[in-house]
Amino acid sequence: MTARIVNACMVCALALALGVLGCEKTETGGEEMAAKGTEMKAAAYTAIANMGATNGNSAHGTVTFTKVEEGVRVVAHFEGVPAGDHGFHIHEFGDCSSGDGKSAGGHFNPYSVPHAGPDGEQRHVGDLGNITANADGVAEKEFVDAMLGFEGERSIAGKGVILHANADDLTTQPTGAAGARISCGVIELAAEPVSEK
Ligand code: CU
Ligand code: ZN
Repeated sequence: MTARIVNACMVCALALALGVLGCEKTETGGEEMAAKGTEMKAAAYTAIANMGATNGNSAHGTVTFTKVEEGVRVVAHFEGVPAGDHGFHIHEFGDCSSGDGKSAGGHFNPYSVPHAGPDGEQRHVGDLGNITANADGVAEKEFVDAMLGFEGERSIAGKGVILHANADDLTTQPTGAAGARISCGVIELAAEPVSEK
């Protein structure tokens, strides 16, 4: 903020020195930029995907996404999940209408790179690894992912979330061999931060 004002003043001084009538215009531009910055800060940076079971399955729950300094914090809670590891990804389309989750398309992969795990040097932006369900069918995971965002080409807004029948082996292309899609949801921006239970 201070730097911007100083910069603007320097531009003004330079403009005056050159005898150019650009000072007023520069100041207006600065104010507009400052106002936009405030607006963006106040905007919703929380999203939620309500996860429904696909046909013939019972896995359902919620996944919340919250902007934090290091990336996006993901909090997933599922119930009705067969015990064991299940591939967990963001898919390219926010469309669960097909009933089997396939309408959500492939993994969200804006950089067209190979599939991997969340810690892979190269990975799909949507590669979030696995979630483990316990014997009661509950699967929970909370983590911060630096690849995810709410703006630009990494934006997760409106994308799909899929929980798979099998574990993601983090290697097999292009899906990690995670099998059928047992739960599907759409990442919807929340107007207010979603409170955690
Ligand atoms: Cu997937
Ligand atoms: Zn992938």
